[in-house]
Amino acid sequence: MAEIVIQGGTVIDGGGVRRADVRVSGALIAEVGPNLSVGKGVTVLDAGGCLVAPGLVDLHTHLREPGREEAETVDSGTRAAALGGYTAVVAMPNTEPAIDNAGIAREVLDLGRGAVAEVAVAGAITVRREGERLAPMAELADLGVHLFTDDGSGVQDGALMRRALDYAKGLGVTLAQHCEDDALAAGGAMHEGAWSSRLGIPGVPAAAEEAMVARDIALVRLTGAPVHFLHLSTAGSVELVRRAKAEGLAVTAEAAPHHFALTDAEVAGYDPIFKVNPPLRTGADVEAVKVGLCDGTIDAIATDHAPHTPETKDVPFDEAPPGMLGLETALSVAFSELVAPTGDGSSGRLSAERVLGLFSWQPATIAALGPTDARGGGHSAQGGPVAPGGAANLLVFDPEASWQVDRAGLASRSHNTPYAGRTLRGRVRHTVLRGEPVVIDAEAQR
Ligand code: DOR
Repeated sequence: MAEIVIQGGTVIDGGGVRRADVRVSGALIAEVGPNLSVGKGVTVLDAGGCLVAPGLVDLHTHLREPGREEAETVDSGTRAAALGGYTAVVAMPNTEPAIDNAGIAREVLDLGRGAVAEVAVAGAITVRREGERLAPMAELADLGVHLFTDDGSGVQDGALMRRALDYAKGLGVTLAQHCEDDALAAGGAMHEGAWSSRLGIPGVPAAAEEAMVARDIALVRLTGAPVHFLHLSTAGSVELVRRAKAEGLAVTAEAAPHHFALTDAEVAGYDPIFKVNPPLRTGADVEAVKVGLCDGTIDAIATDHAPHTPETKDVPFDEAPPGMLGLETALSVAFSELVAPTGDGSSGRLSAERVLGLFSWQPATIAALGPTDARGGGHSAQGGPVAPGGAANLLVFDPEASWQVDRAGLASRSHNTPYAGRTLRGRVRHTVLRGEPVVIDAEAQR
């Protein structure tokens, strides 16, 4: 059996932080401890000065297959994931056709089988994501689908959402809502505020998101079924979720890196790279998202990796599709924004351990991909712990390395990163999937 020793790092998982080497044998972790012996034929992965953690789990990846393979495929998207330190991604169902039945879900799961990151899928809540009739959630749940969402749109009809929650409760699955009231958001292309007025771009008010967050919290209270809130972007949304949690309601939430790293001021150059949905918000919203990450209101950082080809993105701001890449930059952006000492006096500072929890073991639990979840479809356990007998899905991250984002150097088929030319702090060095080093020294191995 192939053996690897990850040498000289600091191991971080949900159980804490310690200096240790990690021996991997086959697909499993065999030994964790100081100064492990290295026999003949053993591959050594240097982790000096690095953090060794369970692989990251992305709750929100647009892989675009089937239907938009010119923008991304399962193959290219999972390579981007592995380079970003992810060992599992949840593929969003707004493909063409949508993942709203077992046949399409099976197709995407099959494509993911030999990939360099595990691929789970989210199923649509409604048929074709049209918000009119419920999708066959039970047949999707039978395939092991745990998250359901019409992401790209929110479920507008409150009565239908209530019925979906009743079904979800019976099936033991979780609905993940893209919170956007279509009527309030209609015509908007960026956040509604001072910048949209100055630029003359129609705005989407914060209330378009907050109205649906508030409605769904009321529905969680009514039905007792859990809701996961996707890509929260406003101070008001964070506060609503904070209060719902204080009340003991079954809600979880995620934030995307761009919603704590970028503001609507980026739109000043009318570059459609900065168009995303929900839109980039104000500095006060960014600060509130950071505080939400720090105080536990927000449970996970999820990329909303949304590839779009240059042909579709290079059009006037109003006409461009929303979305930005995220997989290859997310952890570095988070370390730069949340861990790096900036001395700017802003709140919202986290330890490396907390950040890794937001990226790995907390999302693994939300997606039901963790070690105690029932395994199906060939998935291995995600989110750690880094302990003997555990699945060898691991990340080695150098928190001191800095690198400049080069659009052309990304593994994604699309190039719509908002961080091109920026220097980020911290870099993924190695990624190990089921005992196989799929990334070594920031290079994909296949
Ligand atoms: O910006 C976004 N892009 N937000 C979404 O909700 C959908 C996504 C996409 O699929 O491009």
